[in-house]
Amino acid sequence: MDGSVHETTREKLTTVTDALPFDGDDPTIMGPTGRPMPIFAEPAPLSGHGPARVVSMTNQKGGVGKTTTTINLGAALAEYGRRVLLVDFDPQGSLSVGLGLNPHEMELTVYNLLMDPECTVEEVVVPSGVPNMDLLPSNIDLSAAEVQLVGEVAREQTLARVLAPAMARYDVILIDCQPSLGLLTVNALTASDGVVVPLECEYFALRGVALLKTTIDKVKQRLNPKLHVDGVLGTMYDGRTLHSREVMERLVQAWGDTVFHTVIRRTVKFSDSTVAGEPITSYASSSSGAESYRQLAREVIARWQHDV
Ligand SMILES: Nc1ncnc2c1ncn2[C@@H]1O[C@H](COP(=O)(O)OP(=O)(O)OP(=O)(O)O)[C@@H](O)[C@H]1O
Ligand SMILES: [Mg+2]
Repeated sequence: MDGSVHETTREKLTTVTDALPFDGDDPTIMGPTGRPMPIFAEPAPLSGHGPARVVSMTNQKGGVGKTTTTINLGAALAEYGRRVLLVDFDPQGSLSVGLGLNPHEMELTVYNLLMDPECTVEEVVVPSGVPNMDLLPSNIDLSAAEVQLVGEVAREQTLARVLAPAMARYDVILIDCQPSLGLLTVNALTASDGVVVPLECEYFALRGVALLKTTIDKVKQRLNPKLHVDGVLGTMYDGRTLHSREVMERLVQAWGDTVFHTVIRRTVKFSDSTVAGEPITSYASSSSGAESYRQLAREVIARWQHDV
Protein backbone atom coordinates (compact mmCIF):
# COMPACT_ATOMS: atom_id res chain seq x y z
CA MET A 1 0.00 0.00 0.00
CA ASP A 2 2.77 2.33 1.13
CA GLY A 3 4.72 1.43 -1.99
CA SER A 4 1.93 2.32 -4.41
CA VAL A 5 1.43 5.76 -2.82
CA HIS A 6 5.14 6.35 -3.14
CA GLU A 7 5.13 5.22 -6.79
CA THR A 8 2.22 7.50 -7.62
CA THR A 9 3.98 10.49 -6.09
CA ARG A 10 7.18 9.61 -7.92
CA GLU A 11 5.36 9.31 -11.25
CA LYS A 12 3.75 12.74 -10.73
CA LEU A 13 7.07 14.36 -9.90
CA THR A 14 8.69 12.70 -12.88
CA THR A 15 5.96 14.04 -15.14
CA VAL A 16 6.47 17.60 -13.90
CA THR A 17 10.23 17.58 -14.48
CA ASP A 18 9.84 15.66 -17.74
CA ALA A 19 7.79 18.44 -19.26
CA LEU A 20 10.79 20.80 -19.38
CA PRO A 21 12.93 19.64 -22.30
CA PHE A 22 9.98 19.17 -24.62
CA ASP A 23 8.41 22.48 -23.74
CA GLY A 24 7.82 24.92 -26.58
CA ASP A 25 9.97 26.00 -29.49
CA ASP A 26 12.57 28.09 -27.70
CA PRO A 27 15.90 26.75 -29.04
CA THR A 28 17.82 28.30 -26.14
CA ILE A 29 16.11 26.10 -23.56
CA MET A 30 18.67 24.09 -21.58
CA GLY A 31 18.36 20.34 -21.92
CA PRO A 32 19.12 17.84 -19.17
CA THR A 33 22.69 17.39 -20.48
CA GLY A 34 23.46 21.06 -19.72
CA ARG A 35 23.52 22.01 -23.41
CA PRO A 36 20.87 23.96 -25.36
CA MET A 37 18.17 21.52 -26.43
CA PRO A 38 17.75 21.31 -30.22
CA ILE A 39 14.35 20.54 -31.73
CA PHE A 40 14.49 17.26 -33.65
CA ALA A 41 12.11 17.36 -36.61
CA GLU A 42 9.72 14.53 -37.51
CA PRO A 43 11.62 12.36 -39.99
CA ALA A 44 10.41 12.41 -43.59
CA PRO A 45 8.66 9.21 -44.70
CA LEU A 46 10.88 6.81 -46.65
CA SER A 47 10.23 6.21 -50.34
CA GLY A 48 11.79 2.73 -50.25
CA HIS A 49 13.39 0.35 -47.77
CA GLY A 50 16.91 -0.84 -47.00
CA PRO A 51 19.81 -1.27 -46.90
CA ALA A 52 19.71 -1.43 -43.13
CA ARG A 53 21.86 0.56 -40.74
CA VAL A 54 23.04 -1.93 -38.10
CA VAL A 55 23.42 -0.60 -34.56
CA SER A 56 24.59 -2.42 -31.42
CA MET A 57 23.45 -1.48 -27.90
CA THR A 58 26.64 -2.13 -25.99
CA ASN A 59 27.89 -1.77 -22.43
CA GLN A 60 29.60 -4.53 -20.49
CA LYS A 61 27.97 -3.20 -17.33
CA GLY A 62 24.71 -4.98 -16.56
CA GLY A 63 21.32 -3.35 -16.04
CA VAL A 64 22.06 -0.02 -17.74
CA GLY A 65 19.11 -0.04 -20.17
CA LYS A 66 20.48 -1.86 -23.26
CA THR A 67 17.45 -4.12 -23.68
CA THR A 68 14.96 -1.38 -22.76
CA THR A 69 16.59 0.90 -25.35
CA THR A 70 16.59 -1.81 -28.04
CA ILE A 71 12.86 -2.49 -27.62
CA ASN A 72 11.71 1.09 -27.27
CA LEU A 73 14.02 2.79 -29.77
CA GLY A 74 13.06 0.02 -32.22
CA ALA A 75 9.36 0.58 -31.61
CA ALA A 76 9.72 4.36 -31.94
CA LEU A 77 11.64 3.98 -35.24
CA ALA A 78 8.91 1.59 -36.44
CA GLU A 79 6.27 4.23 -35.60
CA TYR A 80 8.18 6.58 -37.92
CA GLY A 81 7.75 4.06 -40.74
CA ARG A 82 11.19 2.44 -40.51
CA ARG A 83 11.32 -1.33 -41.02
CA VAL A 84 13.10 -2.59 -37.94
CA LEU A 85 14.71 -5.93 -37.08
CA LEU A 86 15.69 -6.52 -33.44
CA VAL A 87 18.39 -9.11 -32.73
CA ASP A 88 18.41 -10.65 -29.26
CA PHE A 89 22.13 -11.30 -28.84
CA ASP A 90 22.08 -12.05 -25.12
CA PRO A 91 21.67 -15.63 -23.83
CA GLN A 92 19.56 -14.16 -21.00
CA GLY A 93 16.91 -13.65 -23.70
CA SER A 94 15.52 -10.51 -22.01
CA LEU A 95 14.66 -8.84 -25.30
CA SER A 96 12.60 -11.85 -26.41
CA VAL A 97 10.87 -12.13 -23.03
CA GLY A 98 10.28 -8.35 -22.99
CA LEU A 99 8.34 -8.80 -26.24
CA GLY A 100 6.18 -11.53 -24.77
CA LEU A 101 7.99 -14.68 -25.98
CA ASN A 102 8.40 -17.78 -23.85
CA PRO A 103 12.08 -18.88 -23.86
CA HIS A 104 11.09 -22.57 -23.68
CA GLU A 105 8.78 -22.39 -26.69
CA MET A 106 11.19 -21.07 -29.30
CA GLU A 107 11.73 -23.45 -32.20
CA LEU A 108 14.64 -21.73 -33.83
CA THR A 109 16.79 -18.99 -32.36
CA VAL A 110 19.84 -16.88 -33.19
CA TYR A 111 21.88 -19.86 -31.99
CA ASN A 112 20.64 -21.94 -34.97
CA LEU A 113 21.28 -19.02 -37.30
CA LEU A 114 24.90 -18.76 -36.16
CA MET A 115 25.73 -22.46 -35.98
CA ASP A 116 23.70 -24.14 -38.74
CA PRO A 117 24.80 -23.11 -42.26
CA GLU A 118 21.39 -24.19 -43.67
CA CYS A 119 19.40 -21.95 -41.31
CA THR A 120 18.14 -18.60 -42.69
CA VAL A 121 16.90 -15.35 -41.15
CA GLU A 122 13.40 -16.00 -42.60
CA GLU A 123 13.18 -19.26 -40.67
CA VAL A 124 14.16 -17.70 -37.34
CA VAL A 125 12.43 -14.32 -37.53
CA VAL A 126 9.18 -13.80 -35.59
CA PRO A 127 6.79 -10.83 -35.47
CA SER A 128 7.41 -8.59 -32.43
CA GLY A 129 3.77 -7.59 -31.96
CA VAL A 130 4.66 -4.06 -33.15
CA PRO A 131 3.83 -3.19 -36.79
CA ASN A 132 7.01 -2.78 -38.90
CA MET A 133 9.19 -4.51 -36.28
CA ASP A 134 10.49 -8.12 -36.35
CA LEU A 135 12.60 -10.07 -33.89
CA LEU A 136 15.34 -12.68 -34.07
CA PRO A 137 14.83 -14.34 -30.66
CA SER A 138 17.34 -15.99 -28.33
CA ASN A 139 17.41 -18.06 -25.22
CA ILE A 140 20.08 -19.75 -23.12
CA ASP A 141 21.18 -21.88 -26.14
CA LEU A 142 23.13 -18.84 -27.33
CA SER A 143 25.62 -19.25 -24.49
CA ALA A 144 26.90 -22.42 -26.23
CA ALA A 145 27.58 -20.42 -29.42
CA GLU A 146 30.16 -18.30 -27.62
CA VAL A 147 32.17 -21.45 -26.88
CA GLN A 148 31.54 -23.18 -30.22
CA LEU A 149 32.40 -20.13 -32.32
CA VAL A 150 35.92 -20.02 -30.91
CA GLY A 151 36.95 -22.87 -33.22
CA GLU A 152 35.33 -21.41 -36.37
CA VAL A 153 37.05 -19.72 -39.29
CA ALA A 154 36.33 -15.94 -39.28
CA ARG A 155 34.58 -16.39 -35.95
CA GLU A 156 34.17 -12.62 -35.36
CA GLN A 157 32.32 -12.18 -38.69
CA THR A 158 29.68 -14.86 -38.12
CA LEU A 159 26.80 -12.54 -37.21
CA ALA A 160 27.63 -10.11 -40.04
CA ARG A 161 27.60 -13.02 -42.50
CA VAL A 162 24.25 -14.44 -41.41
CA LEU A 163 22.53 -11.02 -41.30
CA ALA A 164 23.79 -9.96 -44.76
CA PRO A 165 20.86 -11.50 -46.74
CA ALA A 166 18.33 -9.56 -44.58
CA MET A 167 19.93 -6.13 -45.03
CA ALA A 168 17.82 -5.17 -48.05
CA ARG A 169 14.49 -5.78 -46.27
CA TYR A 170 15.08 -3.54 -43.24
CA ASP A 171 15.99 0.09 -42.60
CA VAL A 172 17.42 -0.48 -39.14
CA ILE A 173 18.78 -3.58 -37.38
CA LEU A 174 19.26 -3.14 -33.61
CA ILE A 175 21.40 -5.71 -31.77
CA ASP A 176 20.87 -6.11 -28.03
CA CYS A 177 24.26 -7.19 -26.61
CA GLN A 178 24.90 -9.09 -23.42
CA PRO A 179 26.76 -7.38 -20.55
CA SER A 180 30.25 -8.57 -21.56
CA LEU A 181 32.93 -7.76 -24.11
CA GLY A 182 33.35 -11.39 -25.19
CA LEU A 183 33.10 -12.98 -28.63
CA LEU A 184 29.34 -12.41 -29.03
CA THR A 185 29.72 -8.68 -28.44
CA VAL A 186 32.74 -8.56 -30.79
CA ASN A 187 30.52 -10.27 -33.40
CA ALA A 188 27.82 -7.62 -32.85
CA LEU A 189 30.35 -4.78 -33.22
CA THR A 190 31.84 -6.38 -36.33
CA ALA A 191 28.35 -6.56 -37.90
CA SER A 192 27.49 -2.93 -37.01
CA ASP A 193 27.69 0.50 -38.57
CA GLY A 194 27.05 2.18 -35.24
CA VAL A 195 27.17 1.67 -31.48
CA VAL A 196 24.81 3.19 -28.93
CA VAL A 197 26.19 3.08 -25.38
CA PRO A 198 23.48 3.30 -22.73
CA LEU A 199 24.88 4.50 -19.38
CA GLU A 200 22.98 4.67 -16.12
CA CYS A 201 23.18 8.14 -14.57
CA GLU A 202 25.08 7.13 -11.45
CA TYR A 203 28.72 7.58 -10.42
CA PHE A 204 29.98 4.06 -11.04
CA ALA A 205 28.56 4.14 -14.56
CA LEU A 206 31.69 5.83 -15.86
CA ARG A 207 33.91 3.01 -14.65
CA GLY A 208 34.62 0.56 -17.43
CA VAL A 209 33.76 3.03 -20.17
CA ALA A 210 37.46 3.34 -21.07
CA LEU A 211 37.65 -0.43 -21.60
CA LEU A 212 34.54 -0.33 -23.78
CA LYS A 213 36.09 2.47 -25.85
CA THR A 214 39.29 0.41 -26.28
CA THR A 215 37.26 -2.60 -27.46
CA ILE A 216 35.32 -0.47 -29.95
CA ASP A 217 38.60 1.04 -31.25
CA LYS A 218 40.21 -2.41 -31.63
CA VAL A 219 37.21 -3.78 -33.56
CA LYS A 220 37.30 -0.66 -35.75
CA GLN A 221 41.03 -1.07 -36.48
CA ARG A 222 41.15 -4.82 -36.97
CA LEU A 223 37.73 -5.97 -38.14
CA ASN A 224 35.31 -3.22 -39.08
CA PRO A 225 36.67 0.21 -40.18
CA LYS A 226 33.16 1.67 -40.69
CA LEU A 227 32.21 1.27 -36.99
CA HIS A 228 31.14 4.56 -35.46
CA VAL A 229 29.91 5.55 -31.99
CA ASP A 230 26.42 6.88 -32.77
CA GLY A 231 25.95 8.15 -29.26
CA VAL A 232 26.11 7.74 -25.50
CA LEU A 233 22.67 7.66 -23.90
CA GLY A 234 22.05 8.69 -20.30
CA THR A 235 19.41 6.40 -18.80
CA MET A 236 17.55 6.22 -15.49
CA TYR A 237 18.08 9.96 -15.09
CA ASP A 238 16.45 11.72 -12.18
CA GLY A 239 16.55 15.47 -12.73
CA ARG A 240 15.54 16.16 -9.13
CA THR A 241 18.85 14.83 -7.81
CA LEU A 242 22.12 16.74 -7.96
CA HIS A 243 23.76 13.34 -8.38
CA SER A 244 22.10 12.59 -11.76
CA ARG A 245 22.82 16.10 -12.99
CA GLU A 246 26.51 15.83 -12.00
CA VAL A 247 26.90 12.47 -13.74
CA MET A 248 25.37 13.99 -16.89
CA GLU A 249 27.83 16.89 -16.65
CA ARG A 250 30.81 14.52 -16.34
CA LEU A 251 29.51 12.45 -19.26
CA VAL A 252 29.43 15.53 -21.47
CA GLN A 253 32.94 16.52 -20.29
CA ALA A 254 34.25 13.07 -21.20
CA TRP A 255 32.34 12.37 -24.44
CA GLY A 256 31.33 15.86 -25.68
CA ASP A 257 28.71 15.94 -28.42
CA THR A 258 28.71 12.14 -28.66
CA VAL A 259 26.30 12.28 -25.71
CA PHE A 260 22.71 12.33 -26.95
CA HIS A 261 20.69 15.41 -26.01
CA THR A 262 17.87 13.01 -25.23
CA VAL A 263 18.08 11.39 -21.80
CA ILE A 264 15.82 8.64 -20.51
CA ARG A 265 14.34 9.37 -17.10
CA ARG A 266 13.82 6.86 -14.37
CA THR A 267 10.23 5.63 -14.31
CA VAL A 268 8.61 2.39 -13.16
CA LYS A 269 6.62 2.32 -16.41
CA PHE A 270 9.59 0.56 -18.09
CA SER A 271 9.47 -2.46 -15.82
CA ASP A 272 5.65 -2.47 -16.01
CA SER A 273 5.78 -2.58 -19.82
CA THR A 274 8.34 -5.45 -19.70
CA VAL A 275 5.93 -7.44 -17.55
CA ALA A 276 3.20 -6.68 -20.11
CA GLY A 277 5.56 -7.93 -22.89
CA GLU A 278 5.37 -4.82 -25.03
CA PRO A 279 7.23 -1.54 -25.69
CA ILE A 280 6.36 1.53 -23.64
CA THR A 281 5.34 3.25 -26.89
CA SER A 282 2.27 1.00 -27.03
CA TYR A 283 1.88 0.06 -23.33
CA ALA A 284 1.83 3.70 -22.18
CA SER A 285 1.83 5.53 -25.49
CA SER A 286 1.50 9.08 -24.14
CA SER A 287 3.86 8.63 -21.17
CA SER A 288 7.03 10.70 -20.88
CA GLY A 289 9.08 7.48 -21.28
CA ALA A 290 7.44 6.77 -24.66
CA GLU A 291 7.95 10.38 -25.71
CA SER A 292 11.66 10.24 -24.71
CA TYR A 293 12.26 7.21 -26.94
CA ARG A 294 10.41 8.93 -29.83
CA GLN A 295 12.69 11.91 -29.33
CA LEU A 296 15.72 9.56 -29.30
CA ALA A 297 14.48 8.04 -32.58
CA ARG A 298 14.29 11.53 -34.13
CA GLU A 299 17.76 12.35 -32.76
CA VAL A 300 19.40 9.16 -34.09
CA ILE A 301 17.78 9.61 -37.51
CA ALA A 302 19.17 13.17 -37.61
CA ARG A 303 22.65 11.87 -36.67
CA TRP A 304 22.55 9.07 -39.24
CA GLN A 305 21.69 11.58 -41.97
CA HIS A 306 24.75 13.67 -41.13
CA ASP A 307 26.85 10.58 -40.89
CA VAL A 308 26.23 9.18 -44.35
N1 LIG B 1 14.64 4.54 -17.63
C1 LIG B 1 14.38 3.57 -16.76
N2 LIG B 1 13.74 3.82 -15.61
C2 LIG B 1 13.48 2.84 -14.71
N3 LIG B 1 13.79 1.56 -14.90
C3 LIG B 1 14.42 1.23 -16.04
C4 LIG B 1 14.76 2.21 -17.02
N4 LIG B 1 15.39 1.58 -18.04
C5 LIG B 1 15.45 0.28 -17.72
N5 LIG B 1 14.88 0.07 -16.51
C6 LIG B 1 14.75 -1.20 -15.79
O1 LIG B 1 16.06 -1.55 -15.32
C7 LIG B 1 16.29 -2.94 -15.48
C8 LIG B 1 17.49 -3.17 -16.38
O2 LIG B 1 17.20 -2.65 -17.68
P1 LIG B 1 17.64 -3.43 -18.99
O3 LIG B 1 17.24 -4.85 -18.89
O4 LIG B 1 17.16 -2.64 -20.16
O5 LIG B 1 19.21 -3.30 -18.85
P2 LIG B 1 20.34 -4.11 -19.66
O6 LIG B 1 21.49 -3.19 -19.81
O7 LIG B 1 19.77 -4.69 -20.89
O8 LIG B 1 20.67 -5.27 -18.62
P3 LIG B 1 21.59 -6.57 -18.91
O9 LIG B 1 22.99 -6.05 -18.90
O10 LIG B 1 21.30 -7.50 -17.78
O11 LIG B 1 21.20 -7.11 -20.24
C9 LIG B 1 15.00 -3.52 -16.04
O12 LIG B 1 14.22 -4.00 -14.98
C10 LIG B 1 14.31 -2.33 -16.69
O13 LIG B 1 12.89 -2.45 -16.69
MG1 LIG C 1 19.79 -6.69 -21.54
